[in-house]
Amino acid sequence: MFRQRKAWDRCFPASIDSLIIPFNYQGEGHQTWYKVVGSLDSCTWTPLVVGHGGPGQYDYLLPLSDLATKFSTPIIFYDRIGNSRSTHLPSNPSSFLTIDLFIDELVNLLEHLRIRDRFDLLGHSWGGILGLEFEVRRQPEGLRHLVLTSSLTDMGMWSASTGELSKAFPDDVQKGLAVGVADMEAYGKVLRMFHKKHGCLMDPWPEELVYSMNQSISPSADISVAVGMFTGELRTWSIIDRLDRIRVPTFVINGRADIAQDFVVEPLIRGIRPVKWVTMEKSSHTPMWEERERHMDLVNVFLST
Ligand SMILES: *[C@@H]1O[C@H](CO)[C@@H](O)[C@H](O)[C@H]1NC(C)=O
Repeated sequence: MFRQRKAWDRCFPASIDSLIIPFNYQGEGHQTWYKVVGSLDSCTWTPLVVGHGGPGQYDYLLPLSDLATKFSTPIIFYDRIGNSRSTHLPSNPSSFLTIDLFIDELVNLLEHLRIRDRFDLLGHSWGGILGLEFEVRRQPEGLRHLVLTSSLTDMGMWSASTGELSKAFPDDVQKGLAVGVADMEAYGKVLRMFHKKHGCLMDPWPEELVYSMNQSISPSADISVAVGMFTGELRTWSIIDRLDRIRVPTFVINGRADIAQDFVVEPLIRGIRPVKWVTMEKSSHTPMWEERERHMDLVNVFLST
């Protein structure tokens, strides 16, 4: 049967009346919370979907809305299930918490918004893992550009980077970082100290970032998904030997004082074609705050090509 499909058939208003959508996975019903900044009605601009870091939620990435207000790029933020406003999964075994689960959730969102045929993706930190795996595993037809901000390529390198940077801190901070989520109260305290130097260099921290930190590393935070992922599929995760499967233009951003040090992102530069790389000199792990204007300009130029 003859079936004609426009390359860009989303010229209808997407159904954005509800900010919560159902996501069914392996017989269980979940909900994903999302938010659109800008308009999805225009056929001119490719929407940019934002994958937040982990654990956490979208709030601390709010400056990315500048791309909508300054450059008309519609932005879609969402909280992955297990986090913040989406369904929490405290009793799901770590075998349930897979990268494929989160890719399926993303696909569900793209389909709901009717943008699966054409979209860009920006992943921050853990969100970068999601973006990379989505491209490598599924080769999504509609993906046009991939932006990886302060992302990683290999868990061993990530731990090595954290370990190396933590050596500049007092012994108790190093110990607290090593013990990790097993002692959340201590961990929250030392992680904040660590992040003052390698998470966000602004002083004081923006409220959205404080909120996100509160949500993800306070004693009352639900960290089940983070723990499940980091003790599960992410424990030995690496994408380095699969980077040749990336087909879309990719923009790698890190900060000079980032946990994602140059050696952490260098495999992306060697393994992806075409790739662009900028290290932001006055930034650490949140260049969208630390060098907000330049970050948006750089991303906008990349997305416009
Ligand atoms: C973060 O948590 C601290 C300590 O519980 C609290 O005083 C502060 O109001 C919280 N800030 C935000 C923005 O959530």
